[in-house]
Amino acid sequence: MAILITGGAGYIGSHTAVELLQKDYEVVVLDNLVNGAREALYRVEAITGRRVHFIEGDVRDRILLDRLFVEYEIKAVIHFAGLKAVGKSLEKPLAYYDTNVYGTLVLCQAMASAGVYRLVFSSSATVYGLDASVPYEETMPRGVTSNPYGSSKAMAEQVLTDLCRADERWSVVLLRYFNPIGAHPSGQIGEDPRGLPNNLMPFIAQVAVGRLPQLQIFGDDYPTHDGSCVRDYLHVMDLAAGHVASLTRLDTTGVHIYNLGTGEGVSVLEMVRTFEKVTGERVPYSIAPRREGDIAAFWADASKAERELGWRAERGLVMMVRDTWNWQSKNPQGYLLQ
Ligand code: NAD
Ligand code: WQD
Repeated sequence: MAILITGGAGYIGSHTAVELLQKDYEVVVLDNLVNGAREALYRVEAITGRRVHFIEGDVRDRILLDRLFVEYEIKAVIHFAGLKAVGKSLEKPLAYYDTNVYGTLVLCQAMASAGVYRLVFSSSATVYGLDASVPYEETMPRGVTSNPYGSSKAMAEQVLTDLCRADERWSVVLLRYFNPIGAHPSGQIGEDPRGLPNNLMPFIAQVAVGRLPQLQIFGDDYPTHDGSCVRDYLHVMDLAAGHVASLTRLDTTGVHIYNLGTGEGVSVLEMVRTFEKVTGERVPYSIAPRREGDIAAFWADASKAERELGWRAERGLVMMVRDTWNWQSKNPQGYLLQ
């Protein structure tokens, strides 16, 4: 019995593959490599000493999915495949809805036809919307988001919720990630964005390694303790462990929602200072105008995951920074895809 990981050649998927293989699961990865790397999976195999079954293909390709479900005995699916650049989603909304919403529909149709009704879905804290109060709790309604990326995640959540309501064979876990950073402690796999990084941590890491001249901090006049935005950063290995822990919930039908975060907020300026202190590298920065759509501060109430999954984030900020730097300094050009 295997777990199918869609998008498994990407950042979070590759780390989750390590965690699953080390827990003795068979792993099948489907990825079209638009933002993932074949090399990441070779390295997952090197880290774990286990084989990854890899199929290069698109989650929207129903014929391919049908074949895959015949070929492998899939017990459950962890669905990471998606497009995630918030800014790009404003330029190319159709591409984002196509991959993130339609892709989820095609996957569920293929799963139902194969008799596989267990799904873990990569959702995001962004579904709480622009006006939710902090900390975010799973009981809060989905809100209005500022971009098609966020809306596509909220829509996919709604689709999966309706599916569970209509057909009681389904069990779906919606994992709402906060801000994953860090890398596997080996430094063999990590985050390797194509082009200019959109997210804070890969940007900082590329400045420190000399690929980019300086960081721009988007706004220092927010109503936070130091004026810069506050987020709940969590280590990607903790996030990976959260996926494995969530698989137990698939024994119970219906929708199960969990925040995966640390429950603690860290500001952009604190992140830069911690990075400099932990790595000894300088991160030159300038203060730039606010980035459109950014929320001043949010973090998770992560107590439900602890109560029901026995999961909590174990790795602190220093480890997140150390492991990011270990990956970036050993792989200054990432997987060499640029
Ligand atoms: P990633 O881009 O590194 O990984 C996504 C993978 O999906 C890539 O390997 C890409 O090639 C693949 N993919 C994209 N479209 C595909 C398609 N049509 N068919 C098959 N494969 C396809 O991103 P990530 O950071 O690992 O994120 C994984 C998931 O988690 C995404 O759904 C993302 O939206 C979600 N998420 C990420 C974050 C974050 O901060 N990284 C936060 C919340 C939610
Ligand atoms: C963090 C903070 C920026 C870059 C996004 C998505 C969310 C989730 C994670 C992914 C913010 C500041 C950033 C830079 C900066 N999705 N920043 N300079 O915006 O919290 O969340 O990624 O799939 O859905 O919205 O994360 O890392 O982009 O930004 O000052 O060059 O860092 O303004 O305050 P964000 P981020």
